[in-house]
Amino acid sequence: MRILVLNGPNLQMLGRREPDVYGTATLEDVEALVRRTAGELGVEVEFRQSNHEGDLLDWIGLASGTFDGIVINPAAYTHTSVALRDALAGAGVPAVEVHLSNVHGREEFRRRSLTAEVCVGVMCGFGVAGYGWALRALVQHLAPVNKKGRKNEA
Ligand code: DQA
Repeated sequence: MRILVLNGPNLQMLGRREPDVYGTATLEDVEALVRRTAGELGVEVEFRQSNHEGDLLDWIGLASGTFDGIVINPAAYTHTSVALRDALAGAGVPAVEVHLSNVHGREEFRRRSLTAEVCVGVMCGFGVAGYGWALRALVQHLAPVNKKGRKNEA
């Protein structure tokens, strides 16, 4: 199973960007956690970040056939991008949305997600750990039963 992990704008600044909100872990730390979790689950991951909406759209558009699922932190595009929502809706690949912060406990404009409606589910408010939970939840969604015939518990 191959999972595409996408990160939107400004997430390259993690660690030094509003640490009181997003913590001090860097995007490299996020990638390390995702790779560790993927190893435990026995899945492959591709980890990418872009500040450009078009990059994210292109990657999502090309995911079908190469990836089985997408974990995405669309960052600010969550709240603004109809194009990203349409890409996820049309990708033919299930996606889980993740946010480091609890977007429901912040400014009003962050409570609205255009992308969440076309995702399988959303994980938010658990910092970097949320990426691991999002990956586990997506893998369980894609393969409720593992090769040993056991339930893939999240
Ligand atoms: C974020 C939340 C968004 O509202 C914000 O624009 C981000 C990061 C998060 O991970 O908490 O850039 O997606």
